[in-house]
Order: sequence, then structure tokens, then C-alpha cells
Amino acid sequence: MTTDVDAETNAPIQISVAAGSSAQAGSAATATPAGNPPIFRMQDLGVWYGSHQAVRGVTMDVPRNAITALIGPSGCGKSTTLRCLNRMNDLVPGARVEGTIMFGDENLLSSDVDPVDLRGRIGMVFQKPNPFPKSIRDNIEFGMKVNGIKPTPERVEQALRDAALWDEVKDRLKEEAFSLSGGQQQRLCIARAIAVEPEVILMDEPCSALDPIATLAIEELMRKLAERFTLVVVTHNMQQAARVSDQVAFMTVEGSDEGERCGVLAEVGTTRQIFSAPSDPRTEAYITGRVG
Ligand SMILES: Nc1ncnc2c1ncn2[C@@H]1O[C@H](COP(=O)(O)OP(=O)(O)O)[C@@H](O)[C@H]1O
Ligand SMILES: [Mg+2]
Repeated sequence: MTTDVDAETNAPIQISVAAGSSAQAGSAATATPAGNPPIFRMQDLGVWYGSHQAVRGVTMDVPRNAITALIGPSGCGKSTTLRCLNRMNDLVPGARVEGTIMFGDENLLSSDVDPVDLRGRIGMVFQKPNPFPKSIRDNIEFGMKVNGIKPTPERVEQALRDAALWDEVKDRLKEEAFSLSGGQQQRLCIARAIAVEPEVILMDEPCSALDPIATLAIEELMRKLAERFTLVVVTHNMQQAARVSDQVAFMTVEGSDEGERCGVLAEVGTTRQIFSAPSDPRTEAYITGRVG
């Protein structure tokens, strides 16, 4: 357990590592999700927006079928790093990515890789739920069609079940997605991502627009999804990182050679190690609430 200060209330809070996570006590000798073979190997990743380097020198592995949390202060490059993993930065004018990201045995940053295909294998869920202005069913079917999967009622049901949404929507599949609550919309977006059978789901602060109950539902869902998928989750909520993740990557901001502020990876480790025995003083300062 680590003591932290809640950013909103300033009240001291306890961070305890998820009971279901690999990082719990006594698991060191057994195979753990955080020790699973890597699905991504990032090597010296750097990202520029125009002439400004936003991220440099990120080198880390992402274990398969586990949850990796990216944490760190605002502006340290968490979203930027996450977007590299499915080439979303290709869509940002002026963005340039350097380094290597091995995904299986291919460098996904290579110009040979089709980013559209890649995004079928590596889905994404954003901070603000962004269902299409269509019915609940059409939201699931649309992504399937785009990815060449025949949408059957069974597949639609399965995706909604996998996202723990089926019971709440089974009688209203023809209704507009926007008629759902925020938490339900976010689970619909997760269902839409799952429906195309990706290997990885990237999530950028998926709960920050949700209330605590909806947040808990998504966190439970994440643990379930990690049995079948690899999850990489950006969160500014350290309790969330402690509750759900197997591995934590802590990013921070440093001055670059040109004197600009640039995001770097300070430390990566199992969730237990990062929260109980961080090796970088900057990680410790952040998780104990002294900075950030
Ligand atoms: N689309 C963009 N165009 C230009 N600069 C950007 C863009 N997105 C992010 N940045 C800059 O890159 C840095 C890292 O941002 P970001 O990855 O969003 O950080 P975080 O997600 O950790 O808050 C910041 O300095 C931010 O201003
Ligand atoms: Mg961000």
C-alpha cells in the first residue's frame, strides 16, 4: 500500500494493488500477466509535432494479455505515445514518429504497414464516448462491415455481452446510441472495438468523463477483457492504475537538448513495484502526490 493524496479533495488516500492483478503479494515466483511475452516492443520512440519534440527515447515492452497503464502529469506525452501504437499520429498534420515499435515480428511504424489494417488489429477507445449517430446495433455492425466481418445477430450479441452491456440494451437495439447513459455509451464503444476481434485495445482516459459507478463497471470490464486482449490504458487516476493494471509506465517531462520540454519514460515496472518501491525519485514524487 502507498499513501497518496487525492487531487480533487486533497484527502490522503490509500492505494492498494488490485487483488486480481499479477502484482499481488506472493505472485513473484509464478508466471504473471506483467511477465507475459511482449506483444509490442518499443525502441527509442520519438514523436514531433512540427518542430516540437513531444516525446523522446521511449523504450519499453508491453506484455500480451495484460493491462499496461500509462501514467504521468498532463502534457508528458501519454496520449502521444498511445497513439503511436496504432498509427493514429498519422492522422495528425505535422506529426512525425521515429524509432521502432515491433508488433509481433513487424515494425508497425514501417511504411509497408497499412494503418487501416493495423487499426483493425489494434482498436481504440477515447476519453469521451464517441458512438456513431446511429442505432445501438448499427454501431456494432458498422465497424464489422468496415473490417470485412459479416455482422450476424449472434456476433452483435456476443460483442455486447463481452462489453457487459447486453442485458441493458437487448430490448432496445434499434434505439439511438445517444439515448444511452455516458457509461453505457463508453461500453458500447468498447463493444464496437471488440466486435472486430482486435488483439489490442488502446484506451485513452476511458473513465475520465464518467461517474464513479460507471468507472467501476469499466474497470471490472477491463480486467475481464485482459483475459482475451492486450490493453494499454492512459489514466491520470493513480488509484485506477493500481486497481486494474499489471504493468505501469510512468512518464514525465524533461528539458530536451534544445531547451524545450519533452516527455520521457521515467520508469516502467510491475504495478506492485511502481507503487511500493519505485526506483526513480520522480516516480515516487508523483505517486506520493508531491508533484503532478
Ligand atoms: N495534435 C497536436 N499538435 C501539436 N502538439 C500536440 C498535439 N497533441 C499533443 N501535443 C503536445 O505534445 C505534448 C504531449 O501531449 P499529450 O500526448 O497530449 O500529453 P498527455 O496525454 O500526457 O497529457 C504536449 O506538449 C502537447 O501540447
Ligand atoms: Mg492525454
